[in-house]
Order: sequence, then structure tokens, then C-alpha cells
Amino acid sequence: MSSQVSAGNSAAANVKRLMAPDIQAKKGVEPIVSLTSYHAHTAAIADPYCDFLLVGDSLGMVMHGYETTVPVPLELMIMHGRAVVRGAKRSLIVVDMPFGTYEESPSVAFRNAARVMKETDCGAVKLEGGKRMAETIRYLVDRGIPVMAHIGLTPQSINVIGGFKAQGREEAQWAAIEEDARQVADAGAFSVVLEAMAEPLAARITKAIHIPTIGIGASAVCDGQILVMEDMLGLSPRVPKFVKEFGAIGAAIERAISGYAEEVRARTFPAPEHTYAMRKDVPDHGAQSGRATKKTKKQES
Ligand code: KIV
Repeated sequence: MSSQVSAGNSAAANVKRLMAPDIQAKKGVEPIVSLTSYHAHTAAIADPYCDFLLVGDSLGMVMHGYETTVPVPLELMIMHGRAVVRGAKRSLIVVDMPFGTYEESPSVAFRNAARVMKETDCGAVKLEGGKRMAETIRYLVDRGIPVMAHIGLTPQSINVIGGFKAQGREEAQWAAIEEDARQVADAGAFSVVLEAMAEPLAARITKAIHIPTIGIGASAVCDGQILVMEDMLGLSPRVPKFVKEFGAIGAAIERAISGYAEEVRARTFPAPEHTYAMRKDVPDHGAQSGRATKKTKKQES
């Protein structure tokens, strides 16, 4: 377990986890900070700084090498959702409903979303679509499932849209997108992601609806912002225009790995301080391996 996870666990023992209504109540009060996270360790690091963490289906592309989010299975979302819930103690955890698990009917959506909530212990789900998903959003919310909506560029519809294209860049498209925003808000969504959308349209929607807008490639005036963590850390090989790289983790990882490879080839790693000497008075009963052994050694030294 990383020091971040263990420190997070002990410090956060009495921390109350934010819930969907807490996020909704931030509209007009303070900006909402969020990132995607797919693992316990990144969740623990981000937790103190974020209001919610999204286990986005972008994990299919970022972590599992899919070309789009379309193939992502529900089981993968549940597995990563569980890890993030374990890693973060304060942030609301929102888990994406993957393509094909909610569009068919409100009752199918409920069955799958309930499974996500029960098996991950997350506090909300997110699904893509505006007006066409309003009935489903109402159905889920009425049955105890908080829903974050997602409009503008909806990557699960990539095969219909024809590419990862920004939306609403012509005024003729505005009315339909604004209507999407109004309908998901009226249906009871507690917030809505606005992805890759013309800036003035995002600003206009933020003003027009009563729930927080969470921008990604949208506008600084949105009620909150989200980025894919790997993108903003500088770990993704290619990023969309709207990403600002706040870190250069990819380069740091490469430096560390090339240093390791060099030392292994030069036989300078492991050095004496990374190896176990024989105990003089206690017979060595053979290899104890793994992280626990290493920790004990470090504590002893
Ligand atoms: O899947 C995801 O990471 C998302 C964010 C881009 C909002 O939906």
C-alpha cells in the first residue's frame, strides 16, 4: 500500500464523504473541482483536493488500450469503481454507466445502475445523453440513484457523431443542446458534464439551469471543471486541445525506468542496502518476499 493511501486512510477516518446534494449545493457558492480516477492510489492522492472523483469510462481508452469507450464492459467499471471508493474517503465517487447498459429502457438502466451502486459503494452514476435520457434520469432519481448527466460531445455516440468533435460551434446547434441541458436538470440530475462545447454556449447553459455544470473543454464560468487525470498529469501520449498539462509524469516515469534499466544492466542495482544479509544468530528459513518483508527491513534500519 502506498504511503498516500495509508496516510489518507488514517487522516480521513472521521471525514464525512460528500454526497450528490452537497455537490449540487455548490452552484453559485464555490467552484467544483473534480478529476477522473481509476485506481485506489490516484484516488487517495486526489481526494483531499477534489469534490468528486469520476470513474470515467475513458478508462477503457486510457488504461486498457481501446480506441473508443464503446467496448467498455460494466464489470470493468465496477472493478475500478470499487478501487476508487476504497482509495478516497472524502470525495463523492461517481461511476460512469458504460455504453449499452442504460439506453434500452429505464428499468434496464435501473438494474445496472443499482448493481454499480451496490457493488462499488459509489455515491452516484453518470450517463450520457440529454433530452433522450430525461425519462431514465427521472426513473433512477425517483428510485434512489443520483445521476450526473453528460451532454455536448458524448463519446459513447462517437459512431453517430463521426469523431471526437466539439459541439455547438454553430449557433444553429445551440437550441438543441440548451434543451438537452434543461431537460436533464428538470429530470432531477444533480449536475451535468458539458464536454467539448463552444465556450459561449457553455456559459449560457451554466446561467440558464439550476444544477451545476461541470466543464471539460467548455468554459471557465462553468460551476466546476473536470479533466482526465492522466491527461493533466502529462501521462497521455496525445491529448485534446482543451487539456492543460499540469504535470510531466510521463517523462518522470520514463526517466525512472531508464535509470532502473541502466543500473540493472550495470549490476549496480540492487546495492548492498537493498539486499538481505545472513543473520548470525538466527537460522534463515529461506525467502520471505514481498512488500511486508521490505517494510520490516526499512523499519528495522
Ligand atoms: O469518461 C470520462 O472520463 C468522462 C469525462 C471526460 C467527463 O466522461
